[in-house]
Amino acid sequence: MTRQTIVAGNWKMNGNLSLLSEMAECLNNSDIDENINVVICPSFPYLLSANSAFTRGNIAIGAQNMSEFASGAHTGEVSADMLNEMSVKYVILGHSERRSNYGESNEQTAAKVKASLAAGLIPILCIGESEDERVSEQTEAVLKTQLQPVIDAVGIDAFNDIVIAYEPVWAIGTGKTASPEMAQETHAFIRRFFAELNEGIAAKLPLLYGGSMNAKNCKDLIAQPDIDGGLIGGASLKVGEFSTICTTVKG
Ligand code: PGA
Repeated sequence: MTRQTIVAGNWKMNGNLSLLSEMAECLNNSDIDENINVVICPSFPYLLSANSAFTRGNIAIGAQNMSEFASGAHTGEVSADMLNEMSVKYVILGHSERRSNYGESNEQTAAKVKASLAAGLIPILCIGESEDERVSEQTEAVLKTQLQPVIDAVGIDAFNDIVIAYEPVWAIGTGKTASPEMAQETHAFIRRFFAELNEGIAAKLPLLYGGSMNAKNCKDLIAQPDIDGGLIGGASLKVGEFSTICTTVKG
């Protein structure tokens, strides 16, 4: 059984052309294990430049969102086919900022996952509980509620081509990381949930942790048996720090 190891940088609405070229210069020349996949997710305007800037075979480009619709009168939106035409390989979907700031529901997220797969993109599906939900021991119920509409929309077999990012909302951008043990416990729950539907798919499903991951804590988090990489926000904007993460993680 081989599971992919993925280190993804979610730039959110940050960065510019000079960050892109500094990051590319650094990562193209860093000693990154050939067995890990690095994904750089800048804002839409930078996707095409990012594609030509990163020249290593194991660095791919991802978008941070896309429309669930194929085309038409959806001003300001970007379709899966458009991303595909720009050679984008991954797309982050259902990020907690999309859910809380833009009202994206579990069902809308599921529709986006379906549209992304139809275009041949690999969705990085984000799930995670709020602090109140964690405190009131609702974490597992919340994660199931976030996952089930996606399973209903695309079927379990589609999870051969999906990456999951578990991002506890209380850990995003706060500096409060889940401890490796706490993250592992939740990742193990997610894998068991999928194993009840299909053991083979569950065994291969890449489960990334996200939430204040940095160069210091990445090693212990990714050493956990059910943590297959990270989705990194703040620390992905610092060239030295992100390249340290990329070179620390082994596939
Ligand atoms: P953070 O963000 O690493 O800044 O906590 C992670 C994310 O939102 O994907």
